[in-house]
Amino acid sequence: MVMKKPLFHLSPLLIFLLHSTTTLAQPAAAPAPAGPTNVTKILEKAGQFTLLIRLMKATSVADQIDHQLNDSNNGMTLFAPSDNAFSGLSSGTLNSLNDQQKVALIQFHVIPSYITVSQFQTMSNPIRTNAGDSSPYKYPLNVTTFGNSVNISTGITNTSVSGTVYTDGQLAVYQVDKVLLPWDLFGAKPPAPAPAPAKPKKKAGSADDTPDDTTLATSGASSLKVTVQNVVVFGFAMVAATMLSR
Ligand SMILES: *[C@@H]1O[C@H](CO)[C@@H](O)[C@H](O)[C@H]1NC(C)=O
Ligand SMILES: *[C@@H]1O[C@H](CO)[C@@H](O)[C@H](O)[C@H]1NC(C)=O
Ligand SMILES: *[C@@H]1O[C@H](CO)[C@@H](O)[C@H](O)[C@H]1NC(C)=O
Ligand SMILES: *[C@@H]1O[C@H](CO)[C@@H](O)[C@H](O)[C@H]1NC(C)=O
Ligand SMILES: *[C@@H]1O[C@H](CO)[C@@H](O)[C@H](O)[C@H]1NC(C)=O
Repeated sequence: MVMKKPLFHLSPLLIFLLHSTTTLAQPAAAPAPAGPTNVTKILEKAGQFTLLIRLMKATSVADQIDHQLNDSNNGMTLFAPSDNAFSGLSSGTLNSLNDQQKVALIQFHVIPSYITVSQFQTMSNPIRTNAGDSSPYKYPLNVTTFGNSVNISTGITNTSVSGTVYTDGQLAVYQVDKVLLPWDLFGAKPPAPAPAPAKPKKKAGSADDTPDDTTLATSGASSLKVTVQNVVVFGFAMVAATMLSR
């Protein structure tokens, strides 16, 4: 019999967090699978991460995580936005990004080291993400803790970890109920109608908004890799053309 795990509700979670320092850090289910870690499989098993899985495949970040896990001893941490998190985005948020920016958005949810809930309490901000690999102060995020409650702030998005999906000492996957929007993409020059302190919009817009981003994530999945290559080729052609015209 397959039992779907109920979503954490806020108050039980808080009670849970206040009363237990060790439980949260343990795997939600099952021992680590044999063989190399497969983050896609882990997310599939957890359910409710359909859109994230599609985007992680389309951007190749899933492979990146698996390879980094295999190639280094630092481990990885993934903040996994639920499907609800993606449908909570305001209209056109994903559509406003080009393919490279989509890669950065997903990499922004990945920290290139294994971090337990208690380690979050002693980390100093800002925290480097995979999107900022070349420079630690690009695509940073901040984490603040209160007891075992972990809050994340990007300068655009404030949210908190709502549950531990998976931990095995190498890979930690924490559920977040908002997509983490990086300041580097949505701050200085918002590409879309700003994801402003949206309070009233939610009700009116959500019926229209969701399909937009959902279909994008769905249909974009297969074509994205190809498009990324096209962009690179095109950029190269431009450089070549520029050099030739001199
Ligand atoms: C990881 O798991 C997914 C889904 O279960 C599968 O499609 C994919 O081939 C796996 N990747 C590797 C490298 O085994
Ligand atoms: C994992 O890394 C080892 C070398 O450290 C390599 O031989 C192996 O092919 C890698 N496995 C995968 C699935 O990438
Ligand atoms: C974490 O966020 C919650 C709201 O989501 C807020 O009530 C709480 O004060 C925050 N805690 C810290 C330490 O920032
Ligand atoms: C993150 O923390 C650093 C260091 O405390 C601070 O300078 C920066 O303003 C913070 N950014 C956000 C978005 O909270
Ligand atoms: C996020 O939280 C910080 C305090 O931790 C607050 O100053 C800021 O205004 C919040 N930002 C948003 C977009 O809610």
